[in-house]
Amino acid sequence: MGKLKKIGVLTSGGDAPGMNAAVRAVVRTAIYYDIEIVGVFQGFDGLISAKFIDLDSRSVSNIINRGGTILKTARSEKFKTKEGRKIAHKNLLDQGIEALVVIGGDGSFTGARIFEQEFNFPCIGIPGTIDNDIYGTDFTIGFDTAVNTVIEAVDKIRDTASSHDRFFFIEVMGRDSGYIALHSGIACGAEKIMIPELEGEFESLVETLKEGTKRKKTSNIVIVAEGDQEGGAYEIAKKTRIEFPEFDVKVTVLGHTQRGGSPTCSDRVMATRMGVKAVECLMLNRSNVMVGIVNNHIVTCSLLDAIKQHPSLNPELLNVALIAST
Ligand code: F6P
Repeated sequence: MGKLKKIGVLTSGGDAPGMNAAVRAVVRTAIYYDIEIVGVFQGFDGLISAKFIDLDSRSVSNIINRGGTILKTARSEKFKTKEGRKIAHKNLLDQGIEALVVIGGDGSFTGARIFEQEFNFPCIGIPGTIDNDIYGTDFTIGFDTAVNTVIEAVDKIRDTASSHDRFFFIEVMGRDSGYIALHSGIACGAEKIMIPELEGEFESLVETLKEGTKRKKTSNIVIVAEGDQEGGAYEIAKKTRIEFPEFDVKVTVLGHTQRGGSPTCSDRVMATRMGVKAVECLMLNRSNVMVGIVNNHIVTCSLLDAIKQHPSLNPELLNVALIAST
């Protein structure tokens, strides 16, 4: 391929604070290197319905601080079909777009990888999801903001929990992964953290609560990842009420509050670094990869690894969580 002339950028899957910072960096980097840049609305759906917009430096002014995504996002069913991808490819060619930056999670990377293979169309991924469940990067865009949103909420709940001697089960996001629960649980001093990666957690919870009572704890905060193996915060609260009828048990589900809000410094800086790197990789004909941050170095890993491999929870963090909650 000769010099890259025109690229596209889209955001896909669940939104994450910092996606706008990544879009901004992609746009500004393209312009810096004299490459035309086109935004695609609503993720892969926008490729199929040809929702394109030419972007310039000013199109991305004042968005680095904004949550959500100015390009909007979607989980596209149509793009999962060969027919949908064919239309998307034709629309990209009609626009003269030669490569695509996909900001999203593993579902989005799966789509990008299939698309690159089918049409030999260069795609590069930037990990944007609050769940932090992508292999090949220490952190994903939006995770830091999400855990900070959680700790702000839990700190407030802790005030009322201790005033009333209550037990709170607080459910956080993480359909398949316990990163948000583990990090926010440590940061909030939770008495117990329940995550999808661990089995037999209810028995362990019962032990923790008994121990706590012996140590004269009168209130407890338990952080539950939505995908935990016991069925979520309401289910665990129900079982706990049966086991400990004397406890005053409450449930709070933080839900989509975790997906919004102004990104933290860390998310903004990381998103900017990843956006710059993604465009620079495409300029070097490097595609079918995802940009990541490992030990504070910007790296790439194949889209296949990003999709197929799973980041493992740091056992040291699990141990820290256990020790610090006693
Ligand atoms: O962004 C990731 C995630 O927050 C998961 O933890 C959660 O299960 C899912 O997205 C819910 O997203 P939506 O409501 O958009 O389907």
